[in-house]
Amino acid sequence: MDTQDLRQSFATYFNSESEIIVRAPGRVNLIGEHTDYNEGFVLPMAIDRAVWLALRPRTDGQVHIQSLDISSAPPADPKPDSIFYLHSLTKGKGWLEYPKGVANELMKAGYKLRGFDAVMTGDVPRGAGLSSSAAVELAVARAFASVSNFEWDAPRMAGIAQKAENEWVGVKCGIMDQMASAACREGHALFLDCRSLEIQHVPLPKEISIVILDTSTRRGLVESAYNERRSQCEEAAHWFGVKALRDVSVEEFNNKNKDELDAVVLKRARHIITENARVLEAVKVTGNGNVKRLGELFSASHDSLRDDFEVTNNALDIMVACAREQESCYGARMTGAGFGGCAVALMRQENTAEFVHAVSTAYRHRSGLEAAVYICKASEGASLIQE
Ligand code: GLA
Repeated sequence: MDTQDLRQSFATYFNSESEIIVRAPGRVNLIGEHTDYNEGFVLPMAIDRAVWLALRPRTDGQVHIQSLDISSAPPADPKPDSIFYLHSLTKGKGWLEYPKGVANELMKAGYKLRGFDAVMTGDVPRGAGLSSSAAVELAVARAFASVSNFEWDAPRMAGIAQKAENEWVGVKCGIMDQMASAACREGHALFLDCRSLEIQHVPLPKEISIVILDTSTRRGLVESAYNERRSQCEEAAHWFGVKALRDVSVEEFNNKNKDELDAVVLKRARHIITENARVLEAVKVTGNGNVKRLGELFSASHDSLRDDFEVTNNALDIMVACAREQESCYGARMTGAGFGGCAVALMRQENTAEFVHAVSTAYRHRSGLEAAVYICKASEGASLIQE
């Protein structure tokens, strides 16, 4: 992102200079899918695609965020759908609900907020499972922290952003996306225990590339399918007599007589329980630099998401197969909520260019669709770029 351009856009919209620039990244989940709302383990990393805001504080409690991606020409008058007032928040529709939700949760938590004028832009693909909404939430939280002079507490801000999404926007997501966008470190993945919220920064081996393969498929009704998976997991936890599926080990699962458990609920539980074990092993082998094993875990995760959790679609299965066929690929899996969106492949770095070409060609041939490919660097969580 060229911050000079962003400052220039601010000047064009607001006829004054911006004072602060903040950014918050999207994320790709390396492993640990659908485990967050089961109080389990996840291993995401922040990507080098983000949401950026150039801003300037206001003193009248008004927040005006002009999105440069949604309308590019400076309007004669600011559009009312880009403005809200901190002391009379009302619900509406569209992307501004994310900033409003964040403001609301921050104030509920006792933060005294100042308003601001901002221009916002971003390059996290929307609807692809790379957490563009968490990036908006955390960038806005980072902006409020700067103009209102409170300390940036990344895990706390992640919790606030998640609440904003759960309660204001009405999406029942877990904590992973917000925590990744808030707290990741450059060059590292983030190992998160979604029960204790303890985090550990895991350095990524230098010789690998993380390649995101976007199937270019998006499915509607993801939310209802997501909520259905959540309640099936709760049903399974209840059946096992535990607070959350996190509390069932693979051994306990295998040794228990499950004749009385509904067959679908059993499959959902098996995914979560084995996936938690895969995350723990993934952290260990990443630490040892055993990328071959890490790749095998990626692939086992995908198979479990396809067969037991049933959240892949045909395009994701084809994409993962195309990736895995390449000799330089250690493993590949769908990433994010599923039902469309992206796969993530773990690659030998020196072969990335041929890999991208071979997978895109094979995917086009077999699915009739065009892939979008993002080669990603593990980047820093929400940050202040200029003050
Ligand atoms: C979405 C949710 C996350 C998580 C993933 C699946 O990205 O926002 O909280 O549940 O799906 O792992």
